[in-house]
Amino acid sequence: MPDSSATTKLKNDVDSRMKGGVTIIVLGASGDLAKKKTFPALFALFRNNFLPEHSQIVGYARTKMDCDEFHKRVVSHLKSDDPAHDQKVKDFLSICHYVAGQYDQEEYWEKLDQYVTDLENKESLKKEQKNRIFYMALPPSVFVPVASGLRKHVYGKEATTSVVIEKPFGKDLESCNALLEDIKRLFKEEEVYRIDHYLGKELAKNIMSVRFSNMIFSPLWNATHIDSIQITLKEKFGTEGRGGYFNEFGIIRDVMQNHLLQLMSLVAMERPISRDSEAIRDEKVKVLRCVKPITAEDSLLGQYVKNGDKPGYLDDDTVPKDSLCATFAALVLWVDNERWANVPFILKAGKALDTAKVDIRIQFKKLPGSLFCNVPRNELVFRVQPGEAMYMKFNNKSPGFSDETMITELDLTYENRYKNLKIPEAYETLILDVMRGDHSNFVRDDELVAAWRIFTPLLHHIENEKIKPEPYPYGSRGPDKLDKFVKKYGVERLAHENYQWPLQKLED
Ligand SMILES: *[C@@H]1O[C@H](CO)[C@@H](O)[C@H](O)[C@H]1NC(C)=O
Repeated sequence: MPDSSATTKLKNDVDSRMKGGVTIIVLGASGDLAKKKTFPALFALFRNNFLPEHSQIVGYARTKMDCDEFHKRVVSHLKSDDPAHDQKVKDFLSICHYVAGQYDQEEYWEKLDQYVTDLENKESLKKEQKNRIFYMALPPSVFVPVASGLRKHVYGKEATTSVVIEKPFGKDLESCNALLEDIKRLFKEEEVYRIDHYLGKELAKNIMSVRFSNMIFSPLWNATHIDSIQITLKEKFGTEGRGGYFNEFGIIRDVMQNHLLQLMSLVAMERPISRDSEAIRDEKVKVLRCVKPITAEDSLLGQYVKNGDKPGYLDDDTVPKDSLCATFAALVLWVDNERWANVPFILKAGKALDTAKVDIRIQFKKLPGSLFCNVPRNELVFRVQPGEAMYMKFNNKSPGFSDETMITELDLTYENRYKNLKIPEAYETLILDVMRGDHSNFVRDDELVAAWRIFTPLLHHIENEKIKPEPYPYGSRGPDKLDKFVKKYGVERLAHENYQWPLQKLED
């Protein structure tokens, strides 16, 4: 493996904190998130020997089932191309247990604690090895009762305790503050890891490296040179019968206030004084505090409608027939500081669109002067998914006799460039970070507050004024008004935005 020294370092980090022992307790273990994300990530960590020598995993949920049934559910999502896959799965299952219980009754938490204590004793764990990680794969409604039950009865008294929490972290500034208060009463901030899994993605982690380790980018990274920044998350599918949950939140709360804003803060923040997690999070909070609350004029909302045999959002039986919930939004954020004065950050996200992708597009200013007039702008793109890539659109003399310029790109497509490329799943690296005690890629409490402050006025305006989203056909690029909307902010749609790397043919 090319990065064997990196993996050795990570393993050492885990060992120095976990001292060779941990029990990971997955709350909500029978749910979708646990099955599809948490357990596959734990399996990957197990397979790659990242888990401490004495590790046990305990699933906990209300569903009554025995351990075999639980294993069956877990196995269906475990995949690898390892020739020893079946054996590894078997070994993994031998450390996976299941306990059924309620979320709101003391006796069940006592039972869970007893179960975990018995496992620790069976493994003859030393005091400092009795680390406990609570992974909350739970709906928000049961979140606080579970956290308090755990704190009271299952908290690791002898070694470290970590609590991993998933979104949603409230619905607006007020509910977020209430949730933060509830958690603060139970756990210390350094014990809490708020997952935003976009922060575990390779290209998100690369933003800081690219910005701050390249002399060619650092000086260009401001309003003098950059014209606009677009951060886009497109999904191909609609809610397809699962709109009940989504309808309560809408696209802005679902992916923009968290994932896209996190990417934006990495693009916009100032250089941190070190790569220490608090130094990084300090800068993220600082820049978020400079962002003005989004105005209604700077927003465009959409809702997908039927297109051929593809159903509209309101055709989803789990969605109220008169729902005004946005399944698409384009929002423009302004960072009110010297670096970013008048540079629009355009966040776009939507379901049931023409393609599935997440990317960050940094569009530079138009070239002044007349030596080369009308050449397209430079554009730097981070493609987060699918197919990690970074590329730079730049102008180049058309090779051969021609003296015209043509647009081409400096292309770092990971799978072409790196041999034996293995990019871990976001959840895998994030759980590894929890064991290492590294908070860099998790969201701090003040970051959340800063984030909600930007979005809450708009969200309340949309709800109070019952703003009607623009219809757009399933599978399209979004509402018709989108092109006009982004043009207002000076964004040019470059000729080949959905460029697929063909070799360019030279014109005669
Ligand atoms: C941007 O950076 C350049 C130096 O690279 C500097 O000359 C310019 O004043 C900066 N502009 C802003 C708005 O900070």
